[in-house]
Amino acid sequence: MSKKTIRDIQLQGKTVLMRVDFNVPMSDGQITDDNRIVQALPTIKYALDHEAKLVLFSHLGRVKTEEDKKTNSLAPVAKRLSELLNLPITFVTETRGSNLEAAVKNMEDGDIVMVENTRFEDLNEKAESKNNPELGKYWASLGDAFVNDAFGTAHRAHASNVGIADNMVVAVAGFLMEKEIKFIGEAVDNPERPFVAILGGAKVSDKISVIENLLTKADKILVCGAMAYTFYKARGYEVGLSKCEDDYVEFAKSLLEKSNGKLILPVDNMISKEFSADAEAVLVSADQIPSDAMGMDIGPKTVELFKKHLENAKTVVWNGPAGVFEFDKFAVGTNAICKLLAELKDAKTIIGGGDSAAAAIKLGFQDKFTHISTGGGASLEYLEGKELPGISSIHNKCCSCKNC
Ligand code: 3PG
Repeated sequence: MSKKTIRDIQLQGKTVLMRVDFNVPMSDGQITDDNRIVQALPTIKYALDHEAKLVLFSHLGRVKTEEDKKTNSLAPVAKRLSELLNLPITFVTETRGSNLEAAVKNMEDGDIVMVENTRFEDLNEKAESKNNPELGKYWASLGDAFVNDAFGTAHRAHASNVGIADNMVVAVAGFLMEKEIKFIGEAVDNPERPFVAILGGAKVSDKISVIENLLTKADKILVCGAMAYTFYKARGYEVGLSKCEDDYVEFAKSLLEKSNGKLILPVDNMISKEFSADAEAVLVSADQIPSDAMGMDIGPKTVELFKKHLENAKTVVWNGPAGVFEFDKFAVGTNAICKLLAELKDAKTIIGGGDSAAAAIKLGFQDKFTHISTGGGASLEYLEGKELPGISSIHNKCCSCKNC
């Protein structure tokens, strides 16, 4: 990787500012999935093992009103991190000012300070989200070096990632950031072939740029999820009550025409008459969806077809579930894709975040893939081939010394 990493810098005795993405799902003040915290542990532990004074920054949710502050405090996250590390953490309830400065000044080597949600600053003319130059400069002034391990936020140019990096002499990647760049970046830019992409999810409109980018890079793109019904319509099939984006049918048609057979659509579907967990599921072929029913999942022939295309794959990237996986009855296709990928012997298998990552984790397959991205929007934009500001702002390797 051309970016500097935490391995390349001096940590002992230094005040290290670390941006992590602890934007974890919460319900009633409880963390419902701590995966993002767990994935940041290697970088945090490395910094502590090397006797840095560690100051952690993250956002949580969106903060638009004073009221939002109550439900978006990072306090429960600091508590969870402290449990996972079995170490005390000084949680500072402010994002700037004398308390924060004193807490940082009083740190000993190996101490951890966690700053309150960086988006509390958004109540101040969106200072965080608009990358206010003063704010980035102020946060940068608190430390000696900056480590960015927040891949999930890399598609945002905010004060706590880009702003701090732009004001530091040293801005490097953490291990999670390094891993994400390696696996997603290499898969898209330099894949071992055959390279097969599986694209699911609800909307073609969400994936336009991903499909366009991957059409130039992948050997096959297996389409599934509700997105497939827009392609069905483009082929002239009846889609009944299935989710379909009429405004994108022409676009889907043009993609099918220029894909040279690279785009593979499902050949059968599980359908139902209502969108519910216990709706009756009926199997039909792709061109037989009746006008009073909707597609909910891919069928067994599609799984066989996908299996055939995946057999010799060396790189597989998957983004988006194959059906309504929240309902067990219609999670069969998504589950089958998880299994197919888990059984591939010689392939790098990468899940590009979001719902497909949630599905793989929910179905218990988290250890079966080469890499499950922690990014949702960030991995999608990476798969689109976009430059991510959070990554661009990390300094490039210039030499092998530990000082520059
Ligand atoms: C995410 O969960 O995708 C990242 O943390 C970014 O969050 P955001 O969409 O609120 O900027």
